Amino acid sequence: MMEWGEILSSTEVIAAKGFPKNEIRHVTNNSGQVKEGSLFVAIAGLKVDGHNFINEAVAKNAAAIVIEDSRFASDEYPWVRVQNTRKALADLSNAVYGFPSARLNVIGVTGTNGKTTTTNLIATVLEDAGHKTGLIGTIHNRIGTEIIPVSHTTPEAHELCELFLTFVDKGASYAVMEVSSHALVLQRVRGTEFDVAVFTNLTQDHLDFHENMEKYLEAKGRLFSELGTKNKKQRRKFAIINNDDQYAGALTDMASVPVITYGIKNDADVKAESIEFKPQGVFFVLRYTNKVLPIQLKMTGLFNVYNALAAIAVGLIEGIPAEDLIASLERVNGIPGRFEKVEQGQEFTVIVDYSHTPDSLENCLRTARQLTDGRIITVFGCGGDRDRKKRPIMGEKAGRLSDFCVVTSDNPRSENPQAIIDEIIPGLKKTTKPDSFIEIVDRREAIYRAISEARPQDVVIIAGKGHETYQIIGTEIIPFDDRQVASEALRNRR
Ligand SMILES: Nc1ncnc2c1ncn2[C@@H]1O[C@H](COP(=O)(O)OP(=O)(O)O)[C@@H](O)[C@H]1O
Ligand SMILES: [Mg+2]
Repeated sequence: MMEWGEILSSTEVIAAKGFPKNEIRHVTNNSGQVKEGSLFVAIAGLKVDGHNFINEAVAKNAAAIVIEDSRFASDEYPWVRVQNTRKALADLSNAVYGFPSARLNVIGVTGTNGKTTTTNLIATVLEDAGHKTGLIGTIHNRIGTEIIPVSHTTPEAHELCELFLTFVDKGASYAVMEVSSHALVLQRVRGTEFDVAVFTNLTQDHLDFHENMEKYLEAKGRLFSELGTKNKKQRRKFAIINNDDQYAGALTDMASVPVITYGIKNDADVKAESIEFKPQGVFFVLRYTNKVLPIQLKMTGLFNVYNALAAIAVGLIEGIPAEDLIASLERVNGIPGRFEKVEQGQEFTVIVDYSHTPDSLENCLRTARQLTDGRIITVFGCGGDRDRKKRPIMGEKAGRLSDFCVVTSDNPRSENPQAIIDEIIPGLKKTTKPDSFIEIVDRREAIYRAISEARPQDVVIIAGKGHETYQIIGTEIIPFDDRQVASEALRNRR
């Protein structure tokens, strides 16, 4: 086990007093998880201040307390004061757990859209090539088929270290991770040694959190600018960048390691050409160096061509033959809640998709248009307690790209669901006629209505929740699965 002095030297300490009461084996910022041997790190969050839980942590036998607020320096317990406890949580966790990310090849995927799909595709190609791989993402964390539960969509720094350790213990040589900009700003991946960083795209999302695009870019860019500054593994590191995105140049400039580009429109190292949308999925020709190879995906949508290209670029860097990468990707049926079909033998198409941003909704609806000459009926809403600016924009896009819309609730949280809808409607009114949309607050009723509207050839898009199996109304988490509700509505229709 590590010496106290050694643990402390991993972070910037302003002042400290006392020795740990017992040997440190565990780090947490959650007083509920404190046990003997825990280092409790008090973080002042948006809703609660961890400093107020120090007494609880001490009562539960915490070994020592890390604070930011000097008023909590007390003779009652051993403490360490730092400038920023979020940073300290990451630094101390990495020290206590022995820098587990240095024992894996770590691939991070960042960008507004496509992270879950791309990480899943990367994990698939690595696994098919015989590398045991841990996956950290929105749907779940897993190694092979084993699911490893954690509390957050993006684990906190200490949970991330614990996950990496679990992966190492289970024999993984790779970890593939979705890296949100929140995770970067909130220091959750501080101390994680990434080897490959992938950029999908950058569009409006979470702007309430990041104020403006420049800051958002800076947040995403950290993954690229910090790549290569640590290298415990002595392996070559790479940035993989979507060259069709308007921020590709800025990120390429920020990258401190060699860049591999992928894309469709602009010049790129790994390129898709001759794209064709077929009933069985999307077809394209892969071109890189002097190779030209056809590939037929079961997944559809132009965006999945980008996601597949990113996975191919990673696979090529990791030394997997292109033929094997293609064979792996051609077998993938799809990712849960990502343009997922709901089939009950009906004569029209029903799709559940996780798109809940203006850009991903637009992509989703454009993809749907490629599938049919019939109408597009869209069920959507916007989350409560989240970026309000996107509401009318999503209304505008849905109105422009659909034939009929049912505006409903999507995790209203503490907000009044009707008030959220009221902010979506002005956008819809800009792009479509008043008889081309209705408002139905109850999501189940909204899905039933959309499905009862559908005629043969139509496509019903149920956007927003994807794989989620709940809806958050007020402070309650109510079981709700769009796929189940849609299946039920389809069965009841007949
Ligand atoms: N590369 C992409 N570019 C734009 N939109 C995408 C891309 N990949 C997926 N999407 C859309 O965004 C939705 C969310 O995709 P997902 O892979 O879950 O991304 P994320 O994890 O970044 O939210 C998908 O259902 C699809 O509609
Ligand atoms: Mg995701």
